[in-house]
Amino acid sequence: MVMNVKGYAALAVKEDLVPHSFVRRDPREDDVVIEILFSGVCHSDIHSAYNDWGGATYPMVPGHEIIGRVVHVGKSVTKFAVGDLAGVGCMVDSCQHCSACEQGLEQYCEEGNTLTYNDTDRHDGLPTFGGYSDKIVVTEKFVVKVPEGIDLRGAAPLLCAGITTWSPLRHWQVGQGSKVAVVGLGGLGHMAIKLAKALGADVTLFTRSPGKEADARRLGASHVVLSTDSEQMKAAANQFDLIIDTVPYVHDLNPYIPTLALSGTLVLVGYLGPLDPFLNTVPLILGRRAVAGSVIGGIAETQEMMDFCGQHGITADVEVINIQDINTAWQRMLKSDVKYRFVIDIASLK
Ligand SMILES: NC(=O)c1ccc[n+]([C@@H]2O[C@H](COP(=O)([O-])OP(=O)(O)OC[C@H]3O[C@@H](n4cnc5c(N)ncnc54)[C@H](OP(=O)(O)O)[C@@H]3O)[C@@H](O)[C@H]2O)c1
Ligand SMILES: [Zn+2]
Ligand SMILES: [Zn+2]
Repeated sequence: MVMNVKGYAALAVKEDLVPHSFVRRDPREDDVVIEILFSGVCHSDIHSAYNDWGGATYPMVPGHEIIGRVVHVGKSVTKFAVGDLAGVGCMVDSCQHCSACEQGLEQYCEEGNTLTYNDTDRHDGLPTFGGYSDKIVVTEKFVVKVPEGIDLRGAAPLLCAGITTWSPLRHWQVGQGSKVAVVGLGGLGHMAIKLAKALGADVTLFTRSPGKEADARRLGASHVVLSTDSEQMKAAANQFDLIIDTVPYVHDLNPYIPTLALSGTLVLVGYLGPLDPFLNTVPLILGRRAVAGSVIGGIAETQEMMDFCGQHGITADVEVINIQDINTAWQRMLKSDVKYRFVIDIASLK
């Protein structure tokens, strides 16, 4: 049995996405088949389709913030039943035996995790395709439960923007009284503010966009610093235990380092690649400060974040679009014109 699926795909680098039909694998024993309801639009979808990181293969069906309903379960599936809500994020498999996988850190799998799209299934060698489509087949190990009663449209972005900001907040043990700053108010940035605030932190936003101040405060930031204003940057010195930097493109980190408190960490989750200009080590060494990186989160941690969001009523602020509007949405995202995540209503594919 082959499963015919409808979706939208990039057929070549930097070309508009177009309607695309394709097949997914016959479900294996440990697979669930999910009928997709909502699919979030992440800046990584643009980086991938534009080949910013290399390794792009086409046709590429992006999308790794997936919420849907289970319509079939394989024989050995125990966690899900037909009719359950289900979430899928950026990965759909990993080796399951390296030391990272054994710690539940599948995102750091030493053999490389299997990405939800633009990757190759590690069992049958077929290409993976993402959530800009009406169905997906995933091993139950990489599917999370969606809390009852949560707004499904706003829940989709939790699967990437949510977990990518939750994981560093938890790793660096942010809690009551922590001082956290977020750089960039987009999809990841707005989730970072909401989650840090809900964990008890005092939150500051660094932004290039003066027009975002009121939203930042509504989302939970107590302070807003215009990063283009050197006086405001100087006034923010020695404050933050953790800075989560979500900026997607190369930018100067040097102005942010002195705003870290003693032993504070700036964690990069956005830009992938060499820094330009170089990083001055003086404020790192003189303040025992660190620059780190972090990628998404493990499956257990993703479930923890989903449950936390269910308990605290946290979802993304979304603008729901029809899939036919995806190319306009990408152009708007490239101009930082999104409040604060586009989510595709997959019913528009039908
Ligand atoms: N590490 C991971 O696991 C992971 C997971 C998901 C996404 N990502 C990456 O995280 C980045 C952010 O994704 P997103 O979906 O949140 O993007 P987004 O919604 O486009 O938001 C990015 C924000 O960064 C700021 N910004 C944009 N371009 C900038 C520039 N050239 N210089 C300075 N600031 C800039 C803007 O905020 P202001 O207007 O407030 O300045 C913008 O709203 C992307 O690179 C994405 O690929 C990483
Ligand atoms: Zn993403
Ligand atoms: Zn592994």
